[in-house]
Amino acid sequence: MTESVLTVIDHPLVSHKITLLRDVKTEPGAFRSLCKEITLLIAYEALRDLPTRTVEVETPITTTQAIALQSPAPAIVGILRAGLIMVDAILELVPHGRVGHIGMYRDPETHQPVQYYGKLPTRIDEREVILVDPMLATGGSAVAAIDQLKKDGATRIRLLSIIGCPEGVKAVHDAHPDLPITLAALDERLNENAYIVPGLGDAGDRIYGTL
Ligand code: PRP
Ligand code: URA
Repeated sequence: MTESVLTVIDHPLVSHKITLLRDVKTEPGAFRSLCKEITLLIAYEALRDLPTRTVEVETPITTTQAIALQSPAPAIVGILRAGLIMVDAILELVPHGRVGHIGMYRDPETHQPVQYYGKLPTRIDEREVILVDPMLATGGSAVAAIDQLKKDGATRIRLLSIIGCPEGVKAVHDAHPDLPITLAALDERLNENAYIVPGLGDAGDRIYGTL
C-alpha cells in the first residue's frame, strides 16, 4: 500500500445510520448497534484490497481452486475504550482475525493522548493491521497508536473510523503519509474543546453510558 488515501463512504444506509448516531436522544443500546452496523458497512469497502491467495477446496461436487485471505490472519486493533465496539463488528466479518488493544485516553486539558495499555497479537509485522476507533478528532490518539504499531513492527496498517474531521485526517497523513483512512462521515471541524462539530459527542461515554 503506497498511496495516501482518504475514503469517505457515500451510501444512503451509512448516512441514515450516522444521522441516528448523532442524535442526542439515541440511547446507549441503539448507539452500540448503530456503531456496529456502520462498521460492517464501511469495512466492506475498507477491506476490499486485503491480500488473498489461491487454495484448493473440495465442494460436494468437485475440487476447485478458490480464493482465501492470506495467512497469517489480519490483526484487528482497537483503541480503548470506544474502539472495542468496532473490533466486535470486524470480528463478525473476519472471525479468524487476531485482536490487539491499545489503551488511550485524551487528557482533558491538553487533549493529548495518554497511553495506559498495549497488547498486540504475535507476528504483527506479518499481518494486515486494521486499526479501529470511532472518532478521529485531533488525530492524536490515532497517530500515537500508529506510532506504537510501527514501533512493534507493523508495516501494513489501515485506519477505520466512523466520524473524522479535516484536522484529524491531516494529522494522520502528516505523520504517516501512506496510511489509508476510511470514514463513514467527514465532519466540518473541531471546536474549542477538540470535539468534532457536528459530531456525536463523546463516543466512549455514549457507547458505555458513562455520561
Ligand atoms: C476518544 C475516541 C478517540 C479519541 C479521539 O477517546 O474514541 O480515541 O477520543 O480524539 P483525538 O483524535 O483528538 O485523539 P477518549 O479519549 O474519549 O477515550 P475513551 O474511548 O476511553 O472514552
Ligand atoms: N472524542 C470523542 O469521543 N468525540 C469527539 O468529538 C472528539 C474526541
